[in-house]
This record gives sequence, structure tokens and C-alpha cells, in this order.
Amino acid sequence: MAFPILHARLLLLFVLPSWPLVFSQANREIHLGSSLVASDNSSPWRSPSGEFAFGFYQLGNQNLFLLAIWFDKIPEKTLAWYANGDNPAPEGSKVELTSDGQLILNDPKGDEIWRPQTTLNGVTHAYMLDAGNFALVNGDQNSTHVWESFKNPADTVLPTQVLEIGGTVSSRQAESNYSKGRFQLRLLPNGNLVLNTFDLQTNTAYDAYYWSNTYDAANRSNSGERVIFDESGRLYVVLQSGENVILKSGSAESTGGYYYRATLDFDGVFRIYTRSKLQNNGSWVQSWHVPKDICSEIRGELGGGSCGFNSYCVYDKNGRPTCECLPGFFPVDPDNKLDGCKHNLTQKCEAGGSNPEDLYQKREVSNLFWPYSANFEKKDSLNEDVCWKSCLYDCNCVVAVHNEGTCWKKKMPLSNGRANWSIHGKTMIKVPKYDASSGMPPLQDPIRGKKKDQGTLILVGSILLGSSVFLNFLLAALISLVRSSSSQKRHKLIRSSSILETNIRSFTYEELKQATDGFREELGRGAFGTVYKGVLSSSSSEI
Ligand SMILES: *[C@@H]1O[C@H](CO)[C@@H](O)[C@H](O)[C@H]1NC(C)=O
Ligand SMILES: *[C@@H]1O[C@H](CO)[C@@H](O)[C@H](O)[C@H]1NC(C)=O
Ligand SMILES: *[C@@H]1O[C@H](CO)[C@@H](O)[C@H](O)[C@H]1NC(C)=O
Ligand SMILES: *[C@@H]1O[C@H](CO)[C@@H](O)[C@H](O)[C@H]1NC(C)=O
Ligand SMILES: *[C@@H]1O[C@H](CO)[C@@H](O)[C@H](O)[C@H]1NC(C)=O
Ligand SMILES: *[C@@H]1O[C@H](CO)[C@@H](O)[C@H](O)[C@H]1NC(C)=O
Repeated sequence: MAFPILHARLLLLFVLPSWPLVFSQANREIHLGSSLVASDNSSPWRSPSGEFAFGFYQLGNQNLFLLAIWFDKIPEKTLAWYANGDNPAPEGSKVELTSDGQLILNDPKGDEIWRPQTTLNGVTHAYMLDAGNFALVNGDQNSTHVWESFKNPADTVLPTQVLEIGGTVSSRQAESNYSKGRFQLRLLPNGNLVLNTFDLQTNTAYDAYYWSNTYDAANRSNSGERVIFDESGRLYVVLQSGENVILKSGSAESTGGYYYRATLDFDGVFRIYTRSKLQNNGSWVQSWHVPKDICSEIRGELGGGSCGFNSYCVYDKNGRPTCECLPGFFPVDPDNKLDGCKHNLTQKCEAGGSNPEDLYQKREVSNLFWPYSANFEKKDSLNEDVCWKSCLYDCNCVVAVHNEGTCWKKKMPLSNGRANWSIHGKTMIKVPKYDASSGMPPLQDPIRGKKKDQGTLILVGSILLGSSVFLNFLLAALISLVRSSSSQKRHKLIRSSSILETNIRSFTYEELKQATDGFREELGRGAFGTVYKGVLSSSSSEI
């Protein structure tokens, strides 16, 4: 009898240590009572393939952590979802799937940091699924997903993830700040998929700057019902009629070999990224994005546009939008360029103050444009110097724009500023003299790289203007030569100056009705008039 017992023991010894491992790799069920602790060496809950992990992601080299899901087989561990972006967890925090089926993130003192917003009933276990979805499951009811990360997106949508009506994706504040940012992607109740800016303080959505056009007021069956991102990286809106409206077609390459993600980046652009699974040295490649030109396409009158107030949008050398302060201005938040700029001009409006000539000096930039221009005065037939003086002595004026003999005076805040070669005219900015030497970038042209035909001459013109009287004469001669020789060009210049002035176009009643109907449901809070106008001018970019 001794032999079989020995045998059984050996067997037991052999089986026992490996049994939990085999079990957990086979189905990855996360049991009630399981927990993870935030520390730099905690091991996450991985999906069966190992491609995704759920756990604590350390922020930079701070001792702060996000409860997150990330691509676990690539070196950068790109985040696909995060729970507590606004409220990072200190080291020692704990996430627990409690014995009564709740998912709770507590700090080391036991105070709650985060939990799912819906009531969780009947959760028997959880899964980290291979698609990148973390699901709380009711095993007694056909494995229903009581809660899942796919239904509660952060800034990223993964293949097989579906955005239902009301679904919202939010940007983060900055590259490495996961607090909620100023941009949203939403599938509106009317079926349109839109991108809009958003006021974090009041929870209000501003005008859309992209929309999928999947809304038909006359026929609901032509309106969107859900948005699907599929395994081949295809993004499309499914209409109520069942038809698909493709926003981005899938890739022809074998789908298994690539990772895809669609992320609303902190700069407000919604991008689809692709990455080879095979090359370990690979990187995320952008394969699609909307809007095509965010600097020009954000036009809403309210909310400060893509860059916040008193700054301007310009593309960097990689073609990414970035935000710059006007000369003499500095960032409201040095860590977040999208938060706008300010200055500390304190000109008194009462008479008898100091002479503004002693307090302020002029800085010049060309090719800047404000579609909602903050103009409060326009004067024809003023030369540049008189235009400048008129602003200098006016306590309400911060910027004067001079173009073709017309002078506009602008007040704060300046919103939706952008740099664009095809915009002419000189921007003159009032800058305190004490700031003159310190903390200001050297005067430079806002646009690096891209040149546009008709803008070039005028740009060269403005540089020369600033540098020498002699060249001034030369330029004047040149400009009048060009003008008289090309009446067509002249027509263009006049048109662009009228754009500078008002940026208002006329629309047919049909256009108006369509555009406003498309957004009334969600974007109208508070100020209908302005919202309509914003949408209209946006839609003008489509014409
Ligand atoms: C479980 O699924 C089956 C088949 O899909 C369905 O007939 C049944 O009603 C479901 N049961 C529950 C409790 O949802
Ligand atoms: C992220 O930005 C917010 C808002 O600007 C700020 O309050 C927060 O401290 C930042 N978080 C980190 C981790 O830097
Ligand atoms: C609505 O659109 C669907 C799909 O295009 C079409 O089949 C249907 O006839 C339309 N209904 C009306 C009332 O126009
Ligand atoms: C990445 O690695 C592959 C083979 O491992 C190599 O062929 C390729 O040149 C590498 N690419 C870069 C950018 O280093
Ligand atoms: C104006 O702002 C700059 C930059 O923050 C600061 O260094 C300077 O002290 C400010 N001046 C006044 C008068 O507030
Ligand atoms: C300049 O503005 C025009 C008209 O708004 C626009 O079509 C063009 O894309 C802009 N160019 C740049 C570089 O922003």
C-alpha cells in the first residue's frame, strides 16, 4: 500500500504549484476578492494573449498612478483606457473587486478615489479580454457585461469597440497629463458624430469643429445609430437603416499583424494610429485624422478655439498643430500650451495717467488671422503709423491690424488666432516696455515651412517694411507694379481684407436650416444665436 500513496504524493507535488498558473492562463477569470496595489513593481491583470493589461500605470517618475489598460507587448505601454485621470492615485492605493461585486479604487488611507458610475448588480467575476476590454461579468446571466471599459471610454477607442448614441470620448490635458481636456468626440442623439470644444468648469459643449454628416432631419433612417471601429482599422457610422457610412476604410494588410487605436489627442485632433505587432522597434503611425486642418476648422465664436484665448494656432515642423502666445504674452499655464495666454498690460483709461509712449512699445507679426476678430473699431484710409498710434492711446486696444489702408483695433480676449500665409496685413501688438528685453521670443514669422503663392510677396513686404525706409520705397513701388499689372490679384487682396474684417458670408435659407438643425439638440445651451452662427461659418469651410 505504501507505493500508491507515495505516487499520489509525488503527483500532488507536481501538480499543485503549476495548477493556479495553468488555470489563470486558460481563462483569466478575476475572482471576487481580488485586488492590485499601486507600486512600481506590481503585476497587472493581463489578457490571455498578453497584449493588454489592466493595472496601475505610473505617471512619469512621480509616485502617482493611473488605474489603466495599456498595450502590454510594446515598449511604450501606450494607454488605451484610464479611470482616474483627474485624480491620480498615490503609491499604495488599492483597486479591489470586492466580495459583493463592486470595483473600487481606494487610496492607502482607505478613501475612495474612483469607482464605476453605474450601480453594479450581480457581478460574479471580471475579465481582462484580448480586445483590450475590461469587463465586470454576471456569470449567472449568460455572462452579461454589467460594466465594461469599452462602454466608458477615456481618450481612445480600440478595434471592436462601439460608440453608442450619447457615447463620449474626451481628450486629455497634455501629452503626459491625463486630466480631462478641452476636446470631445460625441455621437449626438441626432446621429451625428461630432468633435467639439468643451468648457470644463460649466460642462458645456461649444460648437462642433468636425461632424460626420450622418444626420437627416427629414428621414431618421438616414441618421447615425452607432459608430464602429473594427478589427481592420475601419471606422464607420451605422445608420438606422442599417447602411454604413465609412469614415475611414480598413487596411488591406492582414489584420492580425497590426495594432490599431483611435485617439482624441490632447491637441483636439482625432487620429487613427497603426502599428506592426511584429516589429519590436516599431512606432505608432498616424493613418487618418479629422479635422484635416484644425487651425482653420475650429471657428466657434465661444470657448477660445483650439489654443485658448490670446494665442494662435500654427503647425510645427511635423505638421502637428501647436499653440503660441503673441509677443508680450505668456502662457496662462506653463505646462499646458492649449490653455491660452495672458499679459499684464495695465493701461488706465482715466485721463492724466502716464504717457502710453513711455509705457508701451510696438511688436509686429504678419500673417495672423482672427476669424472672430475681437474688432471694436475699423477705420479706412489710415496709414500704418496713425493706426498704431490710435491703438497705443486707446486703453481698450491691445492689437491693431493694418491692411490695405484699413485699420482695425482689437480688444481682449483674442480668440481663434491662427497663422496663415494667405492672410495679409500687419498685426501690431502693444507690449509693456519693461518686458521688452526679457522673456520675449525674438520677432519671427509665425509660420515655419509651408509657403503659399500669393502670401509670399506680402510677407516679404512686411519683413522689409520693418527693416528699412529705403526698402520701403522699393516695396511700395513693387506693390503698385503688381497691382496695376494684375487686376485679378487685386481682387483677391480686397476679398481677403473683407474676410479679415467680418468673416461673414451669406447663406441660403436651406443651408441655414440644415446646419442649425444638425446641432440644436446638443450645442445650443445658453446662446442659440451664437451657436447657429458658429456652425454656419464652420460649414462654410465645406463649400
Ligand atoms: C441566455 O441566452 C440564451 C440564448 O442566447 C437565451 O435564450 C436566454 O434567454 C438567456 N438567458 C438569460 C437569463 O438572459
Ligand atoms: C494636470 O493638469 C491639471 C489642470 O491643469 C492640473 O491641476 C494637474 O495638477 C495636472 N496633473 C499633473 C499630474 O500634472
Ligand atoms: C428614408 O430613407 C430610407 C433609406 O434611404 C428609404 O428607404 C425610405 O424610403 C426613406 N423614407 C422616406 C419617408 O423618405
Ligand atoms: C526594425 O527591425 C527590423 C528587423 O528586426 C529592421 O529590418 C528594421 O530596419 C528596424 N527598423 C528600424 C527603424 O530600426
Ligand atoms: C508681468 O509678467 C511677467 C511674466 O510673468 C512677470 O515677470 C512680471 O513681473 C509681470 N509684471 C507685472 C508688473 O506684473
Ligand atoms: C489658410 O487659410 C485658408 C483659408 O481659410 C485655408 O484654406 C488654408 O488651409 C490655410 N492654410 C494654413 C496653412 O493654415
